[in-house]
Amino acid sequence: MTRIAIFASGSGSNAQNIAEYFRNNPNIDISLILANKADAYVLERAENLKIDSFVFSNKELQNTEIVLEKLLEYRIDFIVLAGFLLKVPDYLTEAFPNKIVNIHPALLPKYGGKGMYGMNVHNAVVENKEEESGITIHYVNENYDEGQIIFQATIPVLPEDTPDDVASKIHDLEYDNFPKIIEQVINK
Ligand code: GRF
Repeated sequence: MTRIAIFASGSGSNAQNIAEYFRNNPNIDISLILANKADAYVLERAENLKIDSFVFSNKELQNTEIVLEKLLEYRIDFIVLAGFLLKVPDYLTEAFPNKIVNIHPALLPKYGGKGMYGMNVHNAVVENKEEESGITIHYVNENYDEGQIIFQATIPVLPEDTPDDVASKIHDLEYDNFPKIIEQVINK
């Protein structure tokens, strides 16, 4: 049995999609959802899904091992970052080597790095008249957005697409692929 913790900062639609995908899987359990904001909508989703949740501040994450203690308490084996906006501290990447994956809503190395999150990414893609965008699922190491790439998939960006249109296509691509790739990585 692999016990997964999902980290999210906001809405958490990917977190919910992943939890629903694994709901009847006897070998993979979504055991804990963690958020760095008490008002993140993902916490309501966790409650509806009957999954335990834990909230921490950025300061607690960076300066204490309170999050690691929680992960150990829940016997977590694998971590999924799904719309999680904070830097993962080294003590976590060290405790979970090659056991943390993130999804980025663009084709890394393009549109990655500082400030490139959420709508900023899709705004930049449209502004630069890109003809395609996509998703990148990658391992998380000490350097943000630079871990080994596991999977990428693309969508066309049409000349008339707004950043919201791109965001919506990207979300669909995420829902279709992220749970399956998590499953593959865990079963590897
Ligand atoms: C997703 O597009 C994810 O790739 C990104 O932030 C978004 C989170 O959406 N980094 P949600 O919270 O899962 O709805």
